[in-house]
Amino acid sequence: MSVNTVPTQRVGEKIWTIVVAAGSGTRFGSPKQFELINERRVVDWAVETARASSDGVVVVLPAAQAQREGGVVGGSTRSASVRCGLAAVPSDATIICVHDAARPFASEFLFHEVVDAVCAGADGAVPGLPVVDTIKFISSDNVVISTPDRSQIVAVQTPQAFRANVLRVAHSSNPESTDDATLVETNGGRVLIVHGDPLNRKLTTPEDLNWARAITRGEV
Ligand code: CTP
Ligand code: MG
Repeated sequence: MSVNTVPTQRVGEKIWTIVVAAGSGTRFGSPKQFELINERRVVDWAVETARASSDGVVVVLPAAQAQREGGVVGGSTRSASVRCGLAAVPSDATIICVHDAARPFASEFLFHEVVDAVCAGADGAVPGLPVVDTIKFISSDNVVISTPDRSQIVAVQTPQAFRANVLRVAHSSNPESTDDATLVETNGGRVLIVHGDPLNRKLTTPEDLNWARAITRGEV
């Protein structure tokens, strides 16, 4: 098989990816997606892999950057930014992936895993990793309410892939969530978990950026 051959299950699919990069990085202290890792911005790492894995990419940026470098202007929440991206995805896209710009090390393999699961019939597919800590549900005043069974819990990542119409319908009432799978599940969609990748860590704090830089220097 030549490297350019489209795998059978993806024939006839038009795969677009929305990279959301319009956040303000409150926990980081500044818009972390524009920090450099090895001379390239965090967002550029994410976009490069998205381009290699998709037929088209929409990059959602804060207004100033969108004006300067092209791209779509984002909204005040992640879900709003995804909707800004969705409006720019062509109507003939059949599968739409949503990816956080703050995850510079997602692999092409991971994109293919989630896309292939949707090709095979899922409404959505997201990478998940087992959680290592015991998880507690707590009240607003820090009292433990209960302890869920850890074996039934995964921590999810992006890219998250969806049948295009399912994602569009899930966003049609302008709902809010920290990821897109939640919106699809809430609408009754079947979302599959594929194996996540520990290297696909989301950069949330300055320590995460230090880790990412160390990885590229071969120090971790
Ligand atoms: N994002 C976005 N538009 C927003 C908020 C978030 O495009 N209004 C993007 C971020 O740029 C990031 C991804 O969504 O790539 C995941 O969000 P998160 O890690 O929470 O980033 P921020 O919202 O920027 O960080 P914080 O929550 O600490 O403010
Ligand atoms: Mg956020």
